[in-house]
Amino acid sequence: MSLLDKHKRIETHATLLMVLAFLTVTIGGLVQIVPLFYLENTIEKVEGMRPYTPLELTGRDIYIREGCYGCHSQMIRPMRDEYTRYGHYSLAAESMYDHPFQWGSKRTGPDLARVGGRYSDEWHVDHFMDAKQVVPESVMPPYGFLARAKLDGQHIQELIETQVIVGVPYSEEMVENAKADFLAQANPDADTAGLEARYGAAAFGKAVNIRNFDGQQALTEMDALIAYMQVLGTMVDFSTFTRDPNR
Ligand code: HEC
Repeated sequence: MSLLDKHKRIETHATLLMVLAFLTVTIGGLVQIVPLFYLENTIEKVEGMRPYTPLELTGRDIYIREGCYGCHSQMIRPMRDEYTRYGHYSLAAESMYDHPFQWGSKRTGPDLARVGGRYSDEWHVDHFMDAKQVVPESVMPPYGFLARAKLDGQHIQELIETQVIVGVPYSEEMVENAKADFLAQANPDADTAGLEARYGAAAFGKAVNIRNFDGQQALTEMDALIAYMQVLGTMVDFSTFTRDPNR
């Protein structure tokens, strides 16, 4: 009996085919998935990661609403051209509070995983107003309307509570003060001590960016989006991170 004949027995016997196909897929799946639970770089703990502040989280929601991920990824791969241009390759831990993560594979514009601190707030305002005024060959659409969309934090506590449900470790205090923290971050005249205590240097090793991000009196979606841009990739303390095969 030739090999093909033997195979015919499998192909003409539905139950046998199903059982064998199931076994094959199971083994293949295990081979792919099980090592992830043991590989150091998928489970390593890093210093400095914290949940987003309420304003940053709102900025992230605007980022998703506007479909920025359609042109921008947030994942630096461990290849020389990438880490030379963008900085240290992305760690799994850096996305652990992102629901959903924004890794992406489409780069019409550059990767944004470490864009925090690379430009001034004013640069971001000008660039969002009309990218072509800043980078003439840009195809990024204008987002000036964000500067006119006022925010009052009406649903911010619910938003944080939803994040808690999916596993982001916001403390009870963070949830209770969500609205106060939301309003304080873009208003340096506000009482920002609570915000800094909950998300800042004492708790996570780095001060929160507290300032008027868009330069206008009113709190707007522009403030939120820039607060989000400016924190991207700035949380992890790489001085405590030694395992780095590439550099
Ligand atoms: C149609 C594609 C497209 C969309 C949609 C888009 N961008 Fe861009 N973006 C680009 C391109 C192209 C560049 C590079 C040229 C430039 O700086 O404008 C860029 C540049 C940037 C930069 C500067 C990055 C750097 O390292 O220089 C930031 C920040 C940015 N975009 C944020 C956003 C945000 C936030 C959104 C959503 C509100 C967005 N982009 C939507 C195409 C896009």
